[in-house]
Amino acid sequence: MKGGIAVLDFGGQYSHLICRRIRGLGVYASLFPFDTPLVELEKMGVAAVILSGGPASVYDSSSPHPDEKLLHGSLPVLGICYGYQLIVQANGGEVGRASKREYGKSSLKITERSGLFTGIAQDKISCWMSHSDSALRLPEGMAVLGVSDNSPYAAVRSSDGKLFGVQFHPEVAHTEKGDAILSNFIFNVSGAKRGWDMSGFLSETITDLESRIDGRVLCAVSGGVDSSVASVLLNRAVPEMLQCVFIDTGLLRHGEAAEVSKFLHDDLRVPIEFVDASQQFLSRLKGVADPEEKRKIIGKVFAEVFESYARTHGPFKFLAQGTLYPDVIESGRSSAPASIIKTHHNVGGLPKDLSMAVVEPLKELYKDEVRSLGALLGLPAKVLQRHPFPGPGLAVRIIGEVTDEKLRACRDSNRVVEEVLVEEGIYNKVWQGFAYLGDDRVTGVLGDERKVGYQVTVKLVESIDAMTADWYRATPEVLEKISTRITNEVEGVVSVVYAISSKPPATIEPQ
Ligand code: XMP
Repeated sequence: MKGGIAVLDFGGQYSHLICRRIRGLGVYASLFPFDTPLVELEKMGVAAVILSGGPASVYDSSSPHPDEKLLHGSLPVLGICYGYQLIVQANGGEVGRASKREYGKSSLKITERSGLFTGIAQDKISCWMSHSDSALRLPEGMAVLGVSDNSPYAAVRSSDGKLFGVQFHPEVAHTEKGDAILSNFIFNVSGAKRGWDMSGFLSETITDLESRIDGRVLCAVSGGVDSSVASVLLNRAVPEMLQCVFIDTGLLRHGEAAEVSKFLHDDLRVPIEFVDASQQFLSRLKGVADPEEKRKIIGKVFAEVFESYARTHGPFKFLAQGTLYPDVIESGRSSAPASIIKTHHNVGGLPKDLSMAVVEPLKELYKDEVRSLGALLGLPAKVLQRHPFPGPGLAVRIIGEVTDEKLRACRDSNRVVEEVLVEEGIYNKVWQGFAYLGDDRVTGVLGDERKVGYQVTVKLVESIDAMTADWYRATPEVLEKISTRITNEVEGVVSVVYAISSKPPATIEPQ
């Protein structure tokens, strides 16, 4: 931690993302509880502290507060959103309800370049906001560095240049120059040391797994980037202990099982067995329309199939999973007081009574970090660049009951979207591209006949880490090609629409 950055977690959705961004800049950063005492941080030798955002209001009596001494500049401190408001309040300013709440994209006008904005040429940058409170009056001596559409104090610094505050989120990908702003704080203001990189993480993780794993490990793989990287990592660390299993839920993408067999089993020599459980999943999903219920059933059947495999092929001492940090936080499993967004990410669906110790070697990482790790481990680029696919599979892309007809239409439409993105050379520009459908039927004309058919929604999103996302500005030609191919090739679909909501407020998957 010496020379690194401590991020104090006030429960914001993006707290861990701040660490991830700073690690991306080559500086070690770690998340700490919001009330970590200053003396402990000083003992660890941290170069600076970042106070995260959070859902509380600083003026509520029950709101989380840090060690008071931190708010007066004994170490360089950057407060983000809620963290910024703590600094304002503690130094004699006033925080209250904003006259206009700001959620999503806003525009920041830089009014002073010193500190956070050094070297940023533009006068205006777009930034990501998510707050309903704001600084109403600044403490004596605090200078304004930037103003936004609705915040006259969107970025500030103390007179001694040790305390900084921003109302926006520099850590999210949709804030322009966010990395430059963080970089200015960690290198220019606090003098942090570079020294963190992915090959260091790889060798440390292998050493850690070698010393910890002293029995057989079972690892469920789905063909997705996360579980593939986890399985190859384990195969590197403890090859003689590893057994992987691929459960076909019947809700997978077109050709998925065959592809996984080719690259993991044939090419990378990972020990893997395939279990076709599609009938079990599909029959249990019959007649179920409620999204939470569907997810619960899938989690339950997955656990049953997995458990039966573990019992018949065991004993296994460890259960390995490719859980990433966003899965942990979005499932409400993080220790921070973050509000829960979704309950369905696959960390919720583990068999509870297997008496296996859980191993999650990627749980500190984000998707882009896992891709870099996978590249170091020799996974093919095609696998690493494959768009994320949710654990519950196409069931979350089918609104209402999962019927054979909808499943086929959904799978075929997803195949078309992927194929067009590859053909058009934009697959890697898009974080995730897919199609979903519900029970909506619209009237179409096929030949001379009027025919009622499904309406498919196509969604292409840009993101860095899935915590926030924006819709991809596809060209009309790409949209036309996708639409024409879906209505021509996918039986029963007569209409295609394009989704243009960002996250937040929408999530990436429709359910
Ligand atoms: P949302 O829809 O929550 O998705 O914005 C964020 C990212 O996570 C993926 N996702 C899932 N991944 N199990 C998973 O492993 C799930 O249940 C799940 N639901 C969503 C989603 O595809 C996106 O990349």
